[in-house]
Amino acid sequence: MTQNLQESAFLKACRREPAPYTPIWLMRQAGRYMEVYRKIRQRYTMLETVNQPELAAEVTLQPIEAFPLDAAIIFSDILPPLVGMGLDLEFVKQVGPKIHNPARTEEDIKALQVRPPEETMAGTLDAIKIVVRELASRNIPLIGFAGAPFTLASYAVEGGGSKTYINTKTLMFKRPDLWHELMEKLTQVQADYLIAQAEAGASALQVFDSWVGAALNEEAFKKYVKPYNKKLIEKIRSAGKPIIHFCKGTGLYIHEVADCGGDVLGVDWHQDLGQTWETVGDGFGVQGNLDPALLLAPWEELKIHVDRILDQAAGRPGHIFNLGHGLFPTTDEDQVRRLVDYVHEKTQRS
Ligand code: CP3
Repeated sequence: MTQNLQESAFLKACRREPAPYTPIWLMRQAGRYMEVYRKIRQRYTMLETVNQPELAAEVTLQPIEAFPLDAAIIFSDILPPLVGMGLDLEFVKQVGPKIHNPARTEEDIKALQVRPPEETMAGTLDAIKIVVRELASRNIPLIGFAGAPFTLASYAVEGGGSKTYINTKTLMFKRPDLWHELMEKLTQVQADYLIAQAEAGASALQVFDSWVGAALNEEAFKKYVKPYNKKLIEKIRSAGKPIIHFCKGTGLYIHEVADCGGDVLGVDWHQDLGQTWETVGDGFGVQGNLDPALLLAPWEELKIHVDRILDQAAGRPGHIFNLGHGLFPTTDEDQVRRLVDYVHEKTQRS
C-alpha cells in the first residue's frame, strides 16, 4: 500500500520525478465554498470541528469525495498550536481569528509554554490517523501542515489579523532578545508538531508563512525570520517526508526563501511561476500559482490563466498545480471540478 502511495503523482512531483500528469490540490480545499462543509459548521464551531478527530477527518475527505484531487490536506488551522502555548484563541464569526491574551511583554513571552504535540494537538494527530486509513485504498497522500514562526508570532503578538504588523515589528526591532525567545519557542513547537504529523501518517509537510512577505523586506526577512525557517526545515528533515515551503508575498526575495531549504517552493499568485523556477533552479519543485479570484471568472477567462501557468511549467517534473493562495468561500464547486479535470486532461503524459 505504502509502495503505491510513493508512486502517486503528487509524491512523484514532490521528488521532482516525472509524473503521468500534473498533480493538483488546492489550498483551503476544505471550507465554506462547499455546501457539505457549511452544513457541518452550522452545528459545530471551527475549533470543535478541528478538535474532534472524526469530524476533522470527515471535513478533510469532503473535497476528496467531490473532486479528483491528488492530495488531501488535514483539516485544521495554523493557529490551534498557540492554544497549547497558553494563548486564548477564538474564531469569531465574520471577523476571523482572535487571541484574547496577546503576548507582547517580556512576562507574556516568558510564560509561553513548549509542550509536546501529543498533549496539545492530539485531536489533529488522531484525525490524521483516521484520514490516512481512509485514503490508503484510493492511493491519495495526506499533507500535514503548520504555520511558520513569523506568521504565528504575528497572531500571538497582534492578537488577530493585521494590516501593519506594528506590534510584531515593534517587538522585533526594539527587543530582538525577546523576538529571538519567541521565535525559538515557536520553531520548537512547530517542528515537534510537524514531526508528530509525519509519524501519524502524513506523507508530506507544508509550512505556511502567509504574512511574512506583507510585513517584511528582504533585509528584515534575512535577519529576523530566515534563521528560524531554516532551522524549522532542518529539524523536520528527520521525519523523512517532502517539505513544501510557502512564504506568501516574498517574490522580491524568493532566493532567500529558497535558501531556507525544503523540496517544493510554494509560489503565490503575484509571482511569475516560470521566472521563479528559473531563479531558484531545478533543485526545487514548485507549487502554484493561480490567483484564487480567477475561479470566480467565467471558464474562458480562467482557462487562459491556467494555460499560462501550465505553459510556464512546461511539463517539467516537479510542478504541483495549486492556487497562489486559499480558495474564496464564494467559489462555485462546479468551477473547481472543471479546473481539476482540465489540469489532468491537459497534462496527461501516458
Ligand atoms: O487548506 C485546507 O483545506 C486545510 C485547512 C486550513 C484552514 N486554515 C482552515 C480554515 C489551512 C491549511 C489553514 C491555514 C491558515 N489559517 C493560514 C495559512 C494559509 C493562508 O491562508 O495563508 C492562515 C493565515 C490561517 C489563519 C486563519 N484561519 C484566518 C485568517 C481565518 C479567517 C479567514 C477565513 O477564511 O475565515 C481562519 C479560519 C479558517 N481556517 C477557516 C477555515 C476553513 C474558516 C472557518 C470557517 O469555517 O468559518
